[in-house]
Amino acid sequence: MAMIASQCPDYRVVVVDIDSARIKAWQSDRLPIYEPGLQELVQLSLNKNLFFSTDVAQGIREADIIFVSVNTPTKTFGQGAGRAADLQHWEKTAREIKANSTTDKIVVEKSTLPVRTAEAMERILHSGNKTVHFEVLSNPEFLAEGTAVRDLENPDRVLIGGHATESGRRAQAALVDIYAHWVPRDRILTTSVWSSELSKLAANAFLAQRISSINSLSALCERTEADVAEVARAIGMDARIGSRFLNASVGFGGSCFKKDILNLVYLCQHYGLKEVADYWEQVVTMNEYQEDRFVQKMISAMFNTVANKRIAVFGFAFKADTGDTRESPAIRVARFLADERVAVVVTDPEALSNARKDLADLGAKISYELDPYTAARGAHALAVMTDWAEYKTLDYRKIYESMVKPAFIFDGRNCLNHQDLYEMGFNVYPIGKVPLHHL
Ligand code: UDX
Repeated sequence: MAMIASQCPDYRVVVVDIDSARIKAWQSDRLPIYEPGLQELVQLSLNKNLFFSTDVAQGIREADIIFVSVNTPTKTFGQGAGRAADLQHWEKTAREIKANSTTDKIVVEKSTLPVRTAEAMERILHSGNKTVHFEVLSNPEFLAEGTAVRDLENPDRVLIGGHATESGRRAQAALVDIYAHWVPRDRILTTSVWSSELSKLAANAFLAQRISSINSLSALCERTEADVAEVARAIGMDARIGSRFLNASVGFGGSCFKKDILNLVYLCQHYGLKEVADYWEQVVTMNEYQEDRFVQKMISAMFNTVANKRIAVFGFAFKADTGDTRESPAIRVARFLADERVAVVVTDPEALSNARKDLADLGAKISYELDPYTAARGAHALAVMTDWAEYKTLDYRKIYESMVKPAFIFDGRNCLNHQDLYEMGFNVYPIGKVPLHHL
C-alpha cells in the first residue's frame, strides 16, 4: 500500500488494522517489521495520501477498492489441520465488509488463499440484501521479504484475476489502472479468478521445488564428493533451467512456501488427486529431511556427542535482510540441539525478539546474544543458519581463538569462505560439498 500511495498521488490509501499498537508503529520511525527501504517509502506518503487507522468500519465505508490482506495461516485444529488454510480471519473480514458497505466496492484478495476462496467471499458479500454490488478480484503478491521494495517497484509481473462479466472486466481495468502508474502494461496479466489464485500457489510450489531438488542432490554430493555449487552452476547455465533459486541450503523457510504447498496438497486431496498431492508433498518432506540431516551431520562430526557442548547458532531469520523467523530452519535445528542437551546460543542482528518467542518454551536451554563474537566465545561449534552479509566479513581468526578446540563450523548457507576458515584451523562442514577437516 505504501508503494501504491507513493506511485499514485491521485489515490488516497488508508490502511486499517484492529491492532492499535501496529497502527501506531506504522506511523513511527520504528515500523513493526524490518524491511530495507520500507521506512523511507512509508515516510514519502505518510499523512499525505497514506493513512493508518484502527477504524475498520470507516475504512470500509469510505473505500472504493478494498485490499484484503489478513493472514491465512495453516489450520492447527479440526478438519485439514496442518494442511488447510485457516480462513476465519478472511471470513470475518468478508462479513465486516458487507456490514459496513453502503456503496459498491471492488474487493481484492491479496492474502494467499486456496483456489476458489473468492467464490466463498462472493457468496458472503452477496448474501441477504443486494443493494450494494461487490466485485471480487484476485491480485496475489509475489514480493519476497528483504527485497520487497525493489520487487514492488519492478515486479516481474502483476497478476489480476477477475470474472469474465461486464462488471468483472470493469473492476479488473480499475486495478490495472493503479498498477499501470509504474508497471509496464505488458507485465500486467489479467486472468480468471481461479487461474490467478492457483498461480500464486503454483509459483511458490515451483520455487520451493527447485530448492528441494538441489537440496536432495546436496545429500548425494556429500556422499560422492561432487560439489553441489558446481552442479548448480552447470545445470543453471542451461537457459531452460535458469540459474536462480538453486542455492543448496539447510532448507527453505518463510511464511509462504510450506504453507502454500500444504494448501496445494490439501486441495489436490480434496479433489481426489492423490498422486498430484503426494508429488508436491514430497517438496516439504525433502525440506524437513534436509534440516534433520544438517543436525545429524553436526552430531556425527562432533564425535557423536553434543550434550553439554556450546553451539552458537548464527542467524535465526529465515533469510537475510529480514527479522522474520516464520518457518525458519533455525527453529527446528535449535530445538533438535536443545533436545540433545546442547547449550544453544542464538545470535541474529534483527530476529532475536522473534527467536525468543519461537523458543520461549525452552527457557534457559537457549540463550540470546546480539554480538556474534560474544555468542561464539567458548563455543565448540558455529551453525550458520542465515546468510547475513555481515557474517561473511567477521574476524573469524578472532572467533577461532575464542572457541573450544577442535572448533567446527557448519555452514548451512554455503556463504562463508571455507578454504580460509579451514586454513585458520576450523573443521568446516558445508552443504553438498566435501568437508574440510583436520581430524
Ligand atoms: C517467497 C517467494 O519468493 C515470493 O515470490 C512469495 O511472494 C513469498 O514467498 P520469501 O518467503 O520472502 O518469498 O523468500 P525467498 O527469497 O523466496 O526465500 C525462501 C526461503 O528459501 C529462504 O529460507 C531462503 O533462504 C531459501 N532459499 C532461497 C534457498 O535455500 N535457496 C535458494 O536458492 C533460494
